[in-house]
Amino acid sequence: MAFWKPGTAAPQLGLERPTGLSETEAGDTIGYNPHYRLPFKQQKLLLPIARARENILYALERYKTVVLVGETGSGKSTQVPQYLHESGWTQGDRVVLCTQPRRVAAITVAARVAEEMGCKLGGIVGYAVRFDSRVDEGGSRTRIKFVTDGLLLRETLYDPLLSAYSVIILDEAHERSMYTDVLLGLLKKVRKRRPELRIMISSATADAETFRDFFETFTYKGVSSEQSEGSNHDSTIVSITGRQHAVDVFYLSKAPRNYLRSAVDTVLSIIESEGRGDVLVFLPGMEEIDEAVVTVKEHLNALGGMENVVLVLPLHSSLPHHLQMKALQPPSRHVERKVIFATNIAETSLTIEGIRFIVDCGFVKLPVYDVRTGFESLVTTSVSRASATQRAGRAGRTGPGKCFRLYTEEAFSTLSAHTTPEVQRSNLAWMILQLKALGIDQVMTFDFIAQPSAEALMRGLELLYALGALDDRCRLTPDLGEKMAEFPVEPRLAKLLLASFDFHCTEEALTLVALLQVQNVWTNPKGRESRTIQEAAMAELASRDGDHLTLLAIYREWEEAGRSTEWCSEHFLNPRSLTRAREIRGQLRRYLERYKPKGSVFASCVDDSEALRRCVLTGFFFNAARLKSDGRYYTVRDGHPVALHSTSVLAKYGAPAEWIVYNDVVITSEPFLRDCSRIQPLWLMELAPHFYAYGGGKGTSISTSTNIC
Ligand code: CDP
Repeated sequence: MAFWKPGTAAPQLGLERPTGLSETEAGDTIGYNPHYRLPFKQQKLLLPIARARENILYALERYKTVVLVGETGSGKSTQVPQYLHESGWTQGDRVVLCTQPRRVAAITVAARVAEEMGCKLGGIVGYAVRFDSRVDEGGSRTRIKFVTDGLLLRETLYDPLLSAYSVIILDEAHERSMYTDVLLGLLKKVRKRRPELRIMISSATADAETFRDFFETFTYKGVSSEQSEGSNHDSTIVSITGRQHAVDVFYLSKAPRNYLRSAVDTVLSIIESEGRGDVLVFLPGMEEIDEAVVTVKEHLNALGGMENVVLVLPLHSSLPHHLQMKALQPPSRHVERKVIFATNIAETSLTIEGIRFIVDCGFVKLPVYDVRTGFESLVTTSVSRASATQRAGRAGRTGPGKCFRLYTEEAFSTLSAHTTPEVQRSNLAWMILQLKALGIDQVMTFDFIAQPSAEALMRGLELLYALGALDDRCRLTPDLGEKMAEFPVEPRLAKLLLASFDFHCTEEALTLVALLQVQNVWTNPKGRESRTIQEAAMAELASRDGDHLTLLAIYREWEEAGRSTEWCSEHFLNPRSLTRAREIRGQLRRYLERYKPKGSVFASCVDDSEALRRCVLTGFFFNAARLKSDGRYYTVRDGHPVALHSTSVLAKYGAPAEWIVYNDVVITSEPFLRDCSRIQPLWLMELAPHFYAYGGGKGTSISTSTNIC
């Protein structure tokens, strides 16, 4: 592999050190220690943001909205809340709130700030994320709070004016997560009712004007206009210049054939020929990460003894929290180098101790929603230039670094500047439900910073109406819609859980929903022999009724085996995913306790497989497909050709199922259905009579009818 650094005379071969790297080289020659730390006080003063402290504080006194722009690592997330605390913004029971798009970031940034301030996490500094929080009892002593943006959105349901907060910082706004985008619109409204509230939007890229202009304009009946003279200086931009440490970027001189192999080779070259420092590798998804971890470990093993000094770890959102933390914390003394294979969970906010080398494969898995087909799927796509810059920035946080991009410089220049905002590529049902619960009925004219398409909004309304969350005047239904809005899972799963009381299968529904929240419970074994053993294990646990019952069987057997890791390895199951599902199950159970209908009990349907499948259908009746005489499946809703995913037990065992319900679609060469169960066509009309009707003609034919608000 040939990497080269732009600006140097000629492409470099291998990982040879290019010219002009004095900073990095000095690090090597004087025995640079990536884990060395100055005391906090000095570290804080050295951060680029320290020079902008007074500007930031002045801007917040003077302007209602401040957009703070600065390179990653300059100190935005950790320092600004402390500056605000020191300068009185938390006096009089007020709280400074900082949102993060990811839960792991909210937790780790809170921990870091607590450490810098020399206090216990959960005291003056706390955090709250879905299903987990550490704030002072009653929140009375917590003055700086970190939360996920999704959680703040939910908080607006209970306190629409967010009255506890003096300053709300929307951190990592450049990520353009759906919740941050919606919060921007909501905060613009709140600001009108609370003139004393200050909003800070913190972003790593140069789209500061977009944020500032959004707050400078107001929308009246869908018409956007500049504010009248005198009031149009509500917002300002503060830029932080400079970055803490240099990161040298290297490109491949030729595109690799296989980015996974190229990532593994680059890691091995770094281990072999680069100086000290940990390595962070960005890969698109859990499957690639698991494969890369195994391959690198095998290579290290073959080198003899290396596996003890190089620690290879995965980092992605389906890992249980303690394993995510393992990747973030410094390794034990005998470990010389840590190599972390991560998804874009590590792209923003996280500081992983000691990282000095980045390997960026150039791809990311993004959820994409196709309005036409209603399919939501994770699509592997090229990163944006903004993302690539963020990734590189992970290396310069605690010392000088290097970033190896597994693509050419030319390919970099053709990448799109920014990732499409999530609100423009997502199923909007959950977001609409939250807005409705906040009393924002006119979602079509809501002031979005990036407007989603009218079609996507219509689809969202249609889904909520069909689920019974909205009435025919598009208002939330009190018995269902209002409860669903408060549930911490997407509307279809919330409906499934709430309906489980009617089907007397609440225990099973809880297990199922928890398992559907984690990725692959099966491991991805290498080699034909292992795959054959896995097939046998799958056959043993498979239910002829489909994947939902199979998932339940897996969970039940795992519990019966005492949640043993050995049992998981024998069956090629992923103990991490099962453990995470168990945690989520416990949390969902507590929610369901609160929202269960009066007089209902947590029943178990034991072996009544029909009850659970009917219950699944109450949430997922949209997702029905039928096997036709040409041997292909077609969606019942709009006749779109689809196929069973190879992992579905219905594709492997027993007689083919004619009618099925599915949870998920994976689009590769064609749409493949995942998590499928056999159903009876009559159940569709029984459980969703407003959506399905007999089409007449020969055989069973069903058509759909929706009433769109
Ligand atoms: O928000 P931004 O990317 O601008 O920076 P930050 O998250 O506030 O981090 C500022 C600096 O604090 C980083 O460059 C690290 O040096 C340090 N830091 C750390 O060492 N460990 C953490 N968990 C967080 C930050």
